[in-house]
Amino acid sequence: MRRYIGPGELVDDPFTSAADLAPVLLPDRLVPGGSARPELRVRSGRMSLPAAPAEPGIVFRATGLDLVRDGQLLLDQVSVTISAGEHWALLGPNGAGKSTLVQIMATYAYPTRGNADLLGHRLGRVNVFSLRPQIGHVSPNHRVDPQRTVREVVLTGVTGTIQLVPRRETNAAELARAAELTELMGLTGRADMAWQVLSQGERSRALIARALMAQPRLLLLDEPAAGLDVAGREQLLASVDELRERQPDLATVLVTHHLEELPASTSHALLLRGGRILAAGTVGYVITSERVSACFGHPLAITRQAGRWAAVSVTG
Ligand SMILES: Nc1ncnc2c1ncn2[C@@H]1O[C@H](COP(=O)(O)OP(=O)(O)O)[C@@H](O)[C@H]1O
Ligand SMILES: [Mg+2]
Repeated sequence: MRRYIGPGELVDDPFTSAADLAPVLLPDRLVPGGSARPELRVRSGRMSLPAAPAEPGIVFRATGLDLVRDGQLLLDQVSVTISAGEHWALLGPNGAGKSTLVQIMATYAYPTRGNADLLGHRLGRVNVFSLRPQIGHVSPNHRVDPQRTVREVVLTGVTGTIQLVPRRETNAAELARAAELTELMGLTGRADMAWQVLSQGERSRALIARALMAQPRLLLLDEPAAGLDVAGREQLLASVDELRERQPDLATVLVTHHLEELPASTSHALLLRGGRILAAGTVGYVITSERVSACFGHPLAITRQAGRWAAVSVTG
């Protein structure tokens, strides 16, 4: 349907039903520092949306962002700006808050204090259903019906649903795009295969193809190489490099705690430890032995060869 997203802006939004334009339910907000006292707020009527993005190249900006859950400060004064065409690595030890930050970028969590701006709109003031089609999120928790074929799973990316939406006709353009993305992610010849017979690496790449169906401006990959063997990891990284080359305006954020899992096309990095940013900026500035050692709390020597990084323990 055609919908209003801001002053003077009307867009075709196939993802939003009339029901989505009803009062918008904002998520639970926990009282900073307190125990769970959810403050559920319902806003009615037209959302107050900012005008067209003042800085169109900026995809995500966090400003003094804190996130408190169950009285725990999970993100602490996070400030970072991600622009179109940048490819960020989000690095940090287990429990650093990487997935929590990605949840905010995916509009599935909200800052407790400070601000998060996505595609020019402030989280908490915008109907997230209008933003979600522009954000591809590949989460390790995504569940797939094992009987579905690769093509069907990729096509569910159009609606952002787990199953194909009953009675919704898939059109020729969607089928063509699914075929193109399946090929781009190195899954040519796999389209009719059932999910259950795919390797982990093939599944990971199929989920990226699914996330790309809605032509997002921001692609979030949370530990896409987790559990893959070395061949699966290398195929995945080659596909990510290829994607970045073919879609130069796409911004991406790839989460990992292994430097070996970073594609050579990574341009920026953010080091997170205990919910705080230790460093953020271009890879040359951020990914140094000193900074990465501080981030992981262990002495590491970082090397870069043929564009790829490796970390080994410093002994003696
Ligand atoms: N719902 C929650 N309530 C309280 N703490 C949580 C919740 N979810 C995650 N955490 C904690 O938040 C911290 C950051 O988690 P997460 O963002 O998943 O870390 P990472 O992805 O870097 O491993 C961890 O210490 C985790 O235990
Ligand atoms: Mg995580």
